Amino acid sequence: MAKTITGFSKLSKRQKIEWLAGNFFKDPPAAEAELIAWHRRDEAQQRIIDGFTENAVSNFTLPFSVAPNFLINGRPYAVPMVIEESSVVAAASSAAKFWLDRGGFHAEVLDMVKLGQVHFRWGGAPDRLQALFPDLKAHLTTSSNDLTANMRQRGGGLLNIELLDFTHLEPEYYQLRASFDTCDSMGANFINSVLERFGEQLEYFMETAPGIADHERDVEVVMCILSNYNPDCLVRAWVECPENELEDLARDAGLPGHAAVDRFCTAVRIAGIDPYRAATHNKGIFNGIDAVILATGNDFRAVEACGHTYACRSGQYRSLSRAWVENGVFRFELELPLPIGTVGGLTALHPLAKQALHMLGTPSARELMMIVAAVGLAQNFAAVRSLVTTGIQQGHMRMHLVNILHHLGATAAETEAAQAHFCRQTVSFSGVRTFLENARLGRV
Ligand code: MEV
Repeated sequence: MAKTITGFSKLSKRQKIEWLAGNFFKDPPAAEAELIAWHRRDEAQQRIIDGFTENAVSNFTLPFSVAPNFLINGRPYAVPMVIEESSVVAAASSAAKFWLDRGGFHAEVLDMVKLGQVHFRWGGAPDRLQALFPDLKAHLTTSSNDLTANMRQRGGGLLNIELLDFTHLEPEYYQLRASFDTCDSMGANFINSVLERFGEQLEYFMETAPGIADHERDVEVVMCILSNYNPDCLVRAWVECPENELEDLARDAGLPGHAAVDRFCTAVRIAGIDPYRAATHNKGIFNGIDAVILATGNDFRAVEACGHTYACRSGQYRSLSRAWVENGVFRFELELPLPIGTVGGLTALHPLAKQALHMLGTPSARELMMIVAAVGLAQNFAAVRSLVTTGIQQGHMRMHLVNILHHLGATAAETEAAQAHFCRQTVSFSGVRTFLENARLGRV
């Protein structure tokens, strides 16, 4: 059989699986059986999942977990998290519990503005374009009224359009930068539709508006697309408590209270200084954020792109969180943009995303931003706390033990025995293998 194909997307799912199994697997019947085994029995549900992308041949399962005990702005939440990394949910849960006894998490949304761009080329004099812009802006706004009507009814819509001149960097290159309020939706389709309308209408305006010389009428729209950098779609989450209430941190660090808190704050400052550490520090934050973003059917690539760009806003990649002590009060704070939604897109389609949103009390986008930021902060707190005290591997490998045991084919009884044994021992792959070999030889 050939390993390339024309018209793959036109094949039925069964034909796709047969073609793949026959061409790319050593054991085609086993591959077919495995791909089919992960389908849902309920055909209607499977059709919904298949509809998300082209060429779906199976389902890829990840655990849908919950981190309970999150108190955010005085309200308790059980937070849904979808993630494969073994220690993430345990860490979020332990940080949630830690702060539950210390006033919980606080969060506020600073703004919810989303951005889009029309990139275009124009050969006329820059000040002529600036002079035409007020009329152009009015025309673009009016000509997109039909597209923005629904969003305006919900209290959002187009907020502003700016003209930016980049001709000093690229000959004839200008940009329309439009800002939007997309209410509770992430708004990608809405924004992109409006931008494409702007693109058409920019050309139409330049062709037809009176008072424009013939040599000024040529405009070339290069592309119209939302920006995934939304620095004004910003949320802040924080925890705070008197420094002397962090006795657990001091105990784990084996240091007097103030020294332990100082070490924590130093660790966070290091992530503000060194991009190599900042990337790892922020990755820890996104462990929590991505897990909630995925569970609620949001776009984690958009959130990551936005967050990492924001982390570079000073010109250097830095930590997204800050920690300090003032007048004896420890404060740990995370600020980042979160362009997410609670209506539309996958949020309404994915059966478990719907359940995740129900579990959170059907939040608005604003409320979900605060929940997600709080989870990111909790994750960051748990990671830095481990790093500056016991080290990360202790908790991480304990959680990973189950994966190692599965990998080595441990039975339920062997798993139980290994878990009892390794709660007092350092977990390593070879250590677990030796333990199982000994257990199977009756030596344990
Ligand atoms: C591991 O997934 C995340 C951490 O590396 C984060 C950090 O170092 O802060 C533990």
